[in-house]
Amino acid sequence: MEPSDSDIVFQSYGRCCNSEDFFKDFYDRFMGSSADIRELFANTDMKAQRHLLRNGIMQLVLYARGMSDTKLRALGKSHDRTGYNIRPEWYRLWLDALMATLRQHDSQFSPEVEAAWNRAITPGIDIIRQAY
Ligand code: HEM
Repeated sequence: MEPSDSDIVFQSYGRCCNSEDFFKDFYDRFMGSSADIRELFANTDMKAQRHLLRNGIMQLVLYARGMSDTKLRALGKSHDRTGYNIRPEWYRLWLDALMATLRQHDSQFSPEVEAAWNRAITPGIDIIRQAY
């Protein structure tokens, strides 16, 4: 049987997420993409943030595997206009930074793996973004 998108993504994330450098490179890239974004993290403990993101991406992957959306709705709430005020257009930069970091760290990255990531996590990202 063909592996599903979420199988491919699970394996790809497994090849990346044990390296602290993966998350460091992600945030360097993400913050490098816009001064507005850099400012949002000016007072953030980035070591703690890297661990929170490790779990956050796992929530996106688990949602793709059929888990409930409760955790993603909570992230939608913390990121909405009354929370961190994360503008909807910034999620494109987040996804671009994630893909570039996956390409850098996943030795088996390919157009197929990239497409699987896109299809698998877009619905979860939409939940967070649309809570705005
Ligand atoms: C905090 C995940 C997108 C900015 C967090 C936390 C998680 C997380 C797990 C910590 C828990 C919390 O405070 O609720 C994600 C995921 C995203 C995403 C999975 C993609 C779908 C973004 C984007 C931005 C952003 C696009 C900015 C442009 C922040 C900020 C914090 C935060 C400023 C708080 C940092 C602090 O405590 O100082 N995010 N996030 N996030 N996120 Fe996101």
